[in-house]
Amino acid sequence: MTIIVTGGAGFIGSNFIFHMQKKYPDYRIICLDKLTYAGNLSTLKSVMDNTNFRFVKADICDIETVCRLFEEERPDIVVNFAAESHVDRSIKDPDVFLKTNIMGTASLMDACRKYGITRYHQVSTDEVYGDLPLDRPDLFFTEKTPIRTSSPYSASKASADLLVIAYNRTYGLPVTISRCSNNYGPYHFPEKLIPLMIANALNDKPLPVYGNGENIRDWLYVDDHCKAIDLIIHNGKVGEVYNIGGHNEMKNIDIVKLICKELNKPESLITYVADRKGHDMRYAIDPTKIHNELGWLPETKFSDGIKKTIKWYLENREWWEEIISGEYRNYYEKMYGAKV
Ligand code: NAD
Ligand code: DAU
Repeated sequence: MTIIVTGGAGFIGSNFIFHMQKKYPDYRIICLDKLTYAGNLSTLKSVMDNTNFRFVKADICDIETVCRLFEEERPDIVVNFAAESHVDRSIKDPDVFLKTNIMGTASLMDACRKYGITRYHQVSTDEVYGDLPLDRPDLFFTEKTPIRTSSPYSASKASADLLVIAYNRTYGLPVTISRCSNNYGPYHFPEKLIPLMIANALNDKPLPVYGNGENIRDWLYVDDHCKAIDLIIHNGKVGEVYNIGGHNEMKNIDIVKLICKELNKPESLITYVADRKGHDMRYAIDPTKIHNELGWLPETKFSDGIKKTIKWYLENREWWEEIISGEYRNYYEKMYGAKV
């Protein structure tokens, strides 16, 4: 079995590669990644020398290079994690989101059509469903919830999903799509809520909470997401969408307070800043379908996962300190400079 994993030098893709290499040591895994600001080759150092692993630095939009790789490797499965993934960046500059997330998906699927694969899996997001109101805790996103996007990021991911479904219907490409809620865990880039708050708290810097901090996200430990994708690519039904989430809704402010408590830092570090434009209020996934059809259930409770995550950031300071001391400093200044 040969699997191309795109975006494998990022947060979830790298955790997926670790999961797959451990569970299926005979599989050949090829990581195709452009190494944007969010990709980090050092994340993959533990698998780099494995004979069943190959890293290729390339852009998923570069169809010639992608086809050359398909020619050489003849993959059975392609799992597409590669994307521009940060909502705030998409609000400042949508262009690259449209290129990578939409055109990149089309180019990968064109290569799949040309060479033939047994499965193309698109890693999508619950953000394609828009948001839910805070006063309707009875509502959840199901696979039948209409697409209703808020940000350039979510619109680009939804566009990609529509293309994936169209390639299945028009060309018979054997596709699946997963739409997961917010992940957390090791190797999460420190521009996102949980790692940003951990890094800032450890450096005694202000903790910038958007708006009033009442927005709700549905958090899932990254390993549980990886296990769900593993099940979908092996046993999921072609042409189907699977929602992934563990019924773990939390307000942003409660997460930030929890991080302060775990790190023994004062809540006075919390600083309320201007809200994100178009800020989604609440995400909440109904994972009944993947549970009933594939037997998936989340294994890591949030109380354990957040402790494991904080421990990882404490034990791997060099990984995130290198990021926040480099080009990321300019980003932080641009995003938060005037706010905190
Ligand atoms: P990330 O930003 O940490 O990693 C993205 C990776 O893609 C990086 O390694 C980057 O170098 C690579 N990449 C970007 N553009 C590329 C291109 N043009 N060609 C090749 N590689 C490119 O993202 P993540 O948080 O790991 O998310 C992975 C996927 O999962 C994304 O598709 C995202 O939409 C989806 N997702 C994320 C979450 C979450 O909570 N993080 C939840 C649901 C779905
Ligand atoms: O739901 C899945 C999505 O989760 C993925 O598709 C995205 O790729 C991923 O980035 C994530 O999107 P969010 O926008 O929910 O994640 P983020 O970590 O950026 O923000 C989480 C919440 O925290 C959101 O309500 C905004 C808020 N926030 C974020 C940052 C970075 C703050 O209050 N302060 C901050 O500094």
